[in-house]
Amino acid sequence: MSKKIVVITGSPRKNGNSFAMTEAFIQAAEEKGHSVTRFDAAAMNVGGCHACETCYKSGKACSFDDDFNTIAPAILEADAVVFAMPVYWYSIPAQIKAVIDKMFSFCVAGKNIAGKGCGLLCCCEEDDKSVMDGVRIPIERSAALLKWHMVGEVLIPGVLNAGDIEKTDGCKQAAALADNV
Ligand SMILES: Cc1cc2nc3c(=O)[nH]c(=O)nc-3n(C[C@H](O)[C@H](O)[C@H](O)COP(=O)(O)O)c2cc1C
Repeated sequence: MSKKIVVITGSPRKNGNSFAMTEAFIQAAEEKGHSVTRFDAAAMNVGGCHACETCYKSGKACSFDDDFNTIAPAILEADAVVFAMPVYWYSIPAQIKAVIDKMFSFCVAGKNIAGKGCGLLCCCEEDDKSVMDGVRIPIERSAALLKWHMVGEVLIPGVLNAGDIEKTDGCKQAAALADNV
C-alpha cells in the first residue's frame, strides 16, 4: 500500500553522511510507490518552542510563524515520519531539535496523531554505537509518547568526513528501511 512519508533531516552538510542515507531511503521508498515529502531543517527557519501554549489558536500550528508551519501539516497527513541526522555533542542537532520541540503543538492542541510509523537514520564520528543514544533514546521516547511505532533505526558509527558513509553499509540499511514503513 502506498504510504505518505515525511522525512526530516538535521544536517547542514548537503553532501554529508546522513544526507546520503536519506537519499538512499527516499529512492527506495519511492521505488515502492510511497510518496515522500522531505524537509531539510538546517536549510529552513524554525525557532525554538516558546511554550506559550497558543498552538493552533491562530489557525497555524505555531503562533510564532516560521517554517514549522509548513512542516506541521505534512506531519499531520503522514503515515510515517523518518528523522535523519548526525550526532552533535552526543545529542540532536539544534536545527532539527527545534522542529521536534515544536511538535509539542500537536499535544497542546489535542491533535490525534497516533498510529504513525517512525524511523531514524543516524550517524556519528566515534566508533561506539552508544554515542547515538542521545539521539536514539529521545526519538524512541517521543514516538512512544505520541503513540507512534518505531519502524526501524539505522545507526552508523565511525563516519566523520562527508563520503565516509560509503565505506559502510549505511545507505544499504537506509534503503532497506523502506521495506518496513
Ligand atoms: C557540531 C558537531 C558536533 C559533533 N559532535 C559529535 C559527537 O558528539 N560525537 C560524534 O561521534 N560525532 C560528532 N560529530 C561528528 C558528526 O556526527 C559526523 O561527522 C557525522 O558523520 C556528520 O554527519 P553529516 O555528514 O550528515 O553531517 C559532530 C560534528 C559536528 C559538526
